[in-house]
Amino acid sequence: MSGRERETSRWLGAYFRQQRLSLGAATLLMAARAGVLVLLPWPLKLIVDSVILDRRLAPALSRVLPDPSLHRIGLLDALGAALLLLGALDALLSYAGSRLFLDAAQRIAFAIRRDFFAHLQRLPLAFHRRHMSGELISRIGEDVRAMQDFIVSAGIDLIPHLLTIAAILAVMLAMNWRYGLMTLAVAPALAVTAHRFASRIRTASRRVRQREGGLWGATQEVLGNVQLVQSLAREDMEDRRFAERAGDALEAGMRANRIQAGFAPTMNFIVASATGLIVWYGTELVLRGRLTAGDLLVFLAYLRGIATPARQLAKAGRIFGRAAVALERLDEYRAESPLIADRADASTPPACGGHVELRGVSFGYHASEFAVSDISFELTRGKTLALVGATGSGKSTLGALIARFYDPGLGRILLDGRDIRDIRLRWLRTQIALIPQEPQLFHAPVWQNIAYGREGACREESIQAAEAAGVAEILSRLPSGYDTIVSERGLSLSGGQRQCVAIARAMLSDAAVVVLDEPSSSVDALTEQRLMQALRRLARNRAALLIAHRLETVVSADLILVLDRGRIVQRGNHSQLLSQAGAYRDLWQACQSREVGGSLRLVVS
Ligand SMILES: Nc1ncnc2c1ncn2[C@@H]1O[C@H](COP(=O)(O)OP(=O)(O)OP(=O)(O)O)[C@@H](O)[C@H]1O
Ligand SMILES: [Mg+2]
Repeated sequence: MSGRERETSRWLGAYFRQQRLSLGAATLLMAARAGVLVLLPWPLKLIVDSVILDRRLAPALSRVLPDPSLHRIGLLDALGAALLLLGALDALLSYAGSRLFLDAAQRIAFAIRRDFFAHLQRLPLAFHRRHMSGELISRIGEDVRAMQDFIVSAGIDLIPHLLTIAAILAVMLAMNWRYGLMTLAVAPALAVTAHRFASRIRTASRRVRQREGGLWGATQEVLGNVQLVQSLAREDMEDRRFAERAGDALEAGMRANRIQAGFAPTMNFIVASATGLIVWYGTELVLRGRLTAGDLLVFLAYLRGIATPARQLAKAGRIFGRAAVALERLDEYRAESPLIADRADASTPPACGGHVELRGVSFGYHASEFAVSDISFELTRGKTLALVGATGSGKSTLGALIARFYDPGLGRILLDGRDIRDIRLRWLRTQIALIPQEPQLFHAPVWQNIAYGREGACREESIQAAEAAGVAEILSRLPSGYDTIVSERGLSLSGGQRQCVAIARAMLSDAAVVVLDEPSSSVDALTEQRLMQALRRLARNRAALLIAHRLETVVSADLILVLDRGRIVQRGNHSQLLSQAGAYRDLWQACQSREVGGSLRLVVS
């Protein structure tokens, strides 16, 4: 076993251990059921041998059963009752065992999903930018489902049937060893066939799951961007692309089906050939008086008892193949570690002074180039620092670095003089309110979207926060006011309304630092004024980093940094920057000359 496999069985084993009581009890029940299955043909054998053919009972049996020569019908009654009893016992054990297995498997799947969801949530933004959410959902859903099926199938189909086969072989060997060995000879053929098929099925399932995962990822993306699709009338093209992708998955699925379809018949054929041989040889033994007719019945019943599990094995082969692939896929994501994680010695400071300092920070999304380089500045409580610069100059990137969505490649970011990597992430994030360029909202009432800003906040507090931020008027004009249900990702609100919710949410939080990435979309002059006011209120008593696209916002900032291709090219307040030649003055002049709708917009080229 490789280190990786050991690690896999370790984490998987932990889930099984949690369910060890029910799994253990279920296995015992299934083992008992295997015993019942072994006994099941015996009353029939005795009916044929002793009730119909008048043979004497074995000494051990004659003590508990009526003597056939005296009470033939009495014996038949007793054996009939035994048959009924065994049948009932089989049903009962199988019911109880199955239920236990099904429940245990469900609980294991639940626990894996819960932990996997928790894990995915904490993976770095960089991971989520690389993977489509539909694909992740498909793993949590279908791959875990495949593992659940595996546990059920192993428990209900495999364990009892393998035990039955083992018990049957033992009894057969005891009854007539030569005959038993002959039956046993089928086993290697079955095992080799099963193994060959299982590995082919695994390969095929892997392809199916890969393609299906891609399909769900793409589907989710199209449905998520349905407005774009509809506005460009690309529904037909998306239909075709879906059909293409689904076709790939279908083709892979059909390939898996072909292998699967061949499996059971091959196994059946092996069993059927063995049956033929055994019937032929068995009947000869009966004719020679070495075996009774009842014995032959038992053997034939047992053979059927072997054929059923063999078929189950075939079914299980596919389920195992799928589960093995599912496990590989889950393992792949499990191995992803939250790069942005607490250091072992990370601690929680008692309070936040709200002093942020960047010292020579450089960072790149790709190893080849920096998105921001050699950035140094300080943010202090009560002061507003504005970042301006062309699109793609690295403004949002700096915001993400301060909230520690990424760690800088070079340099350090300090909060109250401590490297933010030494601070517990959970605490750090509660100290920094980040209002992204595209505020994110949940499918929930407006007030709940605001309340998300602080754990346990109630409706009243949310409304107060909106009032404190001065956005109450805008939000209360929504159709059902604060109870208006926001659609998925906030798409039922206008850009300005979304921004209001995000500002109120930040207002509600206890954050000492606020990073506001101004939306680049424009709003009407009045709303803009309100938003600015809200911003100023939000920034009061907090350290504020304003990533600005509008000049009005910048004018009153305590310090303005002009960013160009990831570097700070100018710094100063509005009047200082205006008094010197440079990018800022050019910008200002360009904006003055084309004031649009009362809103001055910064454009740096
Ligand atoms: N997740 C990402 N992966 C790779 N590159 C990225 C990622 N996010 C941003 N970039 C790149 O990093 C650079 C800086 O992007 P950033 O979002 O910081 O710009 P910005 O100044 O905020 O621009 P805008 O004014 O348009 O919002 C850009 O070249 C962008 O393409
Ligand atoms: Mg940006």
